[in-house]
Amino acid sequence: MYQKPNERLKGQTAIVTGGSSGIGKAVCEALAVDGANVVVNYYKDSETADEMVEQFMNDERSGDAIAVQADVSKEEDVKNLFSEAISRFGTVDILVANAGIQIDRKFHEMSLEDWQRVIDVNLTGQFLCAKEAIIEFLRRGIREDVSKALGKIIHMSSVHEIIPWAGHANYAASKGAIVMLMQSLCQEYGPQKLRVNSIAPGAIQTPINKEAWSTPQALDKLNELIPYKRIGQPSDVGSLAVWLASDESDYVNGTTIFIDGGMTCYPGFTENG
Ligand code: BGC
Repeated sequence: MYQKPNERLKGQTAIVTGGSSGIGKAVCEALAVDGANVVVNYYKDSETADEMVEQFMNDERSGDAIAVQADVSKEEDVKNLFSEAISRFGTVDILVANAGIQIDRKFHEMSLEDWQRVIDVNLTGQFLCAKEAIIEFLRRGIREDVSKALGKIIHMSSVHEIIPWAGHANYAASKGAIVMLMQSLCQEYGPQKLRVNSIAPGAIQTPINKEAWSTPQALDKLNELIPYKRIGQPSDVGSLAVWLASDESDYVNGTTIFIDGGMTCYPGFTENG
């Protein structure tokens, strides 16, 4: 059903890292529908990123869009991502630092490379992007015509910022660290009116966790971890990202919002403990 467009992000520009698949793609779509200009960052999948840009450019609700390749763990790539966005749109108002990977291993079999790559993308990538965003926010100052905040940063975390995860120590460690990154930025730049928060998704149906939902048996097992008894959809996270990026959430700062169907309520304790 066609819904009247919201225009909560009209005139604002958002960079979404890892924007060409999974949660990042849905976040791009949701931001676009609410009027934002969207910079779709992709690592490899230029075809999907280009299709998305075309789709947004043809959607009357959306602002304009561009696709920019970058490996978020590389400083030069991140600087280029921001300068492309700024030269096309004038500035950046919203960063969704979403790009993330898993390289799952038993801990005693985890190579330094397996550890390092996950930390590089999931944590250092968020550091590099947040830094460039803050440099740009401070340079241009508040744009009162579009938002009360100097800028908005949304870190994509995970329920694994608090739920330990055997066999995924590199991933869980990277997400646990996001909390302190996000809250330290909140403390440091709140006075300048930067708003910074995290989204912590639970099991969302994307390529990253295909094994956990691609058979009915796997899905049943997964649902044991979810009180609400359904896997999350990328669009669930998209809606939350738009709200967090908009002035509707202007007093939400320095916090993690879990979006997990209740996974962090530990349903294993329902009839146990
Ligand atoms: C992981 C998924 C996992 C979910 C819940 C996410 O952060 O990327 O693979 O299904 O957490 O465990």
